[in-house]
Amino acid sequence: MTTKENSKTIREMYAVPDVDPAWHVPQTYDGIFDFNFDTSRDTLMHLYQKGKDMQWDAVERIDWTQELDPENPMEMPLESNPIYGTPLWDKLSKQDRIDLLTHGQAWNISQFLQGEQGALICASKIVTQVPTMDAKFYAATQTMDEARHIEAYMNLQKKFGVAYPMTAPLQSLINDALKDSRWDITYLAMQIVIEGLALAAFATIRDVSQNPLAQQVNAYVMQDEARHVMFGRLSLRDYYPQLSDAERDEREEFLVDACYHMRDRFQGPEIYERLGLPVKECLEYGENSETIKLFRSFLFQRIVPVVKDIGLWGPRIQKAYTDMGVIGFADLDVDALHDQDDSIAKDFDARRAYVNSVIKEGNEGVAAE
Ligand SMILES: [Fe+2]
Ligand SMILES: [Fe+2]
Repeated sequence: MTTKENSKTIREMYAVPDVDPAWHVPQTYDGIFDFNFDTSRDTLMHLYQKGKDMQWDAVERIDWTQELDPENPMEMPLESNPIYGTPLWDKLSKQDRIDLLTHGQAWNISQFLQGEQGALICASKIVTQVPTMDAKFYAATQTMDEARHIEAYMNLQKKFGVAYPMTAPLQSLINDALKDSRWDITYLAMQIVIEGLALAAFATIRDVSQNPLAQQVNAYVMQDEARHVMFGRLSLRDYYPQLSDAERDEREEFLVDACYHMRDRFQGPEIYERLGLPVKECLEYGENSETIKLFRSFLFQRIVPVVKDIGLWGPRIQKAYTDMGVIGFADLDVDALHDQDDSIAKDFDARRAYVNSVIKEGNEGVAAE
């Protein structure tokens, strides 16, 4: 990161003009005090304890002197770019390809960054609105987690020197999560859909990128996100059996719409516009790319088993997931996936500790000579 890039604000890095400096979402819900101080759910209290124990500091845990690659910032496989291998790609100059990879990856990280702010605001809404103290406790730790995630992704974004605003589909789903006066809809949109999608998207970078900085940021954030999805799961699993069939139906309809919305509309036409590439053609290449199709299905890996677990498993949902080709994820063991997220993050810590010890020994050796 050069000093010039470092001193820019995210807004100054936006690759599209006239981005609003703020977004106001009007709210109409009750803030609820719990005078029972109800902390009776052991599962939530256990998760809260974990949330407290596992706080980490992006300043300490990540070595920010590590850089991105100048030609392929996160060192991702070229196939992950939607137009790789097409006649259009073949015609691009080396610099055009570098620009496309840089902007595509920066857009991706920007959506994470923008989504993290969505999560911060949603978690704080849950603190205010959820009726019981145990859920308020956990949502408070999540709020802090999300602030730290924004910090980490902001630092990573600044390494790119370019950023993108929140896409319309993400903004519309976050808007739904915030405007609805029913507290569980916030969980459903944020903890189940957006954080579920995010977990799968973070995992792709963690597991496929060859850049250590990009790997670490995503691995560490995932360690927390797995808990956030668990929070949604535990809270809704307790709540949904208490609702009527008609009320559960409404939630299923919301969920189906949200899933289709994120699958079909979450594209980045603004990248191609900014780079002067034919937008319609590029989007079509993305639609037809086998790698992108696989990636889109994979995005639902963390959502489908959780939806089944919270009891929103009526015919409407099952049909939607069957049509989307993702119903096969229903029986995945999400707890095992979360344990794996945790141990991968710890492996990164162990590697860093090893490298630091080797450097320290080397320095001591030099000093002793
Ligand atoms: Fe987050
Ligand atoms: Fe989160």
